[in-house]
Amino acid sequence: MVVEITKQKHDLQNGNGKTIPQRDVQSLKEEIRKIVKEKNAVVLTHIYQRLEVQDIADHIGDSLALSRAAARTNADIIVFCGVHFMAETAKLLNPVKTVLLPDLQSGCPMADMISVDDLRAFKAEHPGAPVVCYVNSSAGVKAESDVCCTSTNAVQVVSSFKEKEVLFVPDKGLGVWVQERLPDKKLHIYDGFCPTHYQITPKDVFVMREKYPEAVVVAHPECDPEVWRLADFVGSTSQIYKFVSNHSKEQFIILSEQGLVARMQRDMSHKTIVTTFPLPLCPNMKYHKLESVLNSLINNVNEIEIRADVFQKAAQTITKMFEITESDPAKNTNLWEGPRKQAVEA
Ligand code: 13P
Ligand code: SF4
Repeated sequence: MVVEITKQKHDLQNGNGKTIPQRDVQSLKEEIRKIVKEKNAVVLTHIYQRLEVQDIADHIGDSLALSRAAARTNADIIVFCGVHFMAETAKLLNPVKTVLLPDLQSGCPMADMISVDDLRAFKAEHPGAPVVCYVNSSAGVKAESDVCCTSTNAVQVVSSFKEKEVLFVPDKGLGVWVQERLPDKKLHIYDGFCPTHYQITPKDVFVMREKYPEAVVVAHPECDPEVWRLADFVGSTSQIYKFVSNHSKEQFIILSEQGLVARMQRDMSHKTIVTTFPLPLCPNMKYHKLESVLNSLINNVNEIEIRADVFQKAAQTITKMFEITESDPAKNTNLWEGPRKQAVEA
């Protein structure tokens, strides 16, 4: 089934929740920003969040951009509007700061597909092979891994090992993507996946291609390989945003989460940007609302805590990722600026 762009735009602007009357939204946003300033806090918001939650952010971006923003912040409190592993990453980079997750239900099903015991068993099957874990993993799994990666730098991180055999956990979509870019490596890929990106089928892509024959098809590597193989371009969230933004063509079919699509529709209203139907929506990303952000800020609730026995080792996997990928860990590329600067850095 195909959805017209006008209908999609309307649905996307409203996110997946109830529409809040405009007056309340505005006063909530103003109150949040006032308290953020008073408490020397910073709001980091993943681009899959509801648009109104993006509006109160200091920094909007993908996993890598937000990790960088967390690494460089001088704020005392980090309010993280993303899923649990992202807030944990911010805490691992800022041990003495308070990190708040406005709604604790906001977990990542893919990250939950691998436990520490699962990883230990996987390692036992392939003794001696280093482990690269996708940032979409718990602190416990990170502590059992050698280095972490994001979808922006996964190829670079895996290729940094001299060993031929490497374990890659937990995302098989991204794992196959990396394997195909690095034919000299032998990746042992765990069987985890993103339920939101895997919702998109090859048939959905064919339907949209028929409707928009001139469109450029762009996919996130978390999609099923059968899906991203149909795309003209495959990239992480920030890479997708930049690709569409810089491209001379006018029509794009995006095979990724609807929050990114909604954001690009808003920022690039002169282009036709559509996705598949039913909308690929991550319900876990949409738990945070303006009310929960305000509540966590006022009451300092839903603070992220990480077990002491895994903290240091988990933090090392993230700092090692930065060491491999960039000379300055606080370097800030791929970052959308917040409501006061709505630009994407080149
Ligand atoms: P990036 O933000 O790294 O592109 O990953 C997408 C995602 O699924 C976040 O959970
Ligand atoms: Fe996890 Fe997929 Fe949601 Fe990202 S989009 S948080 S990988 S379930």
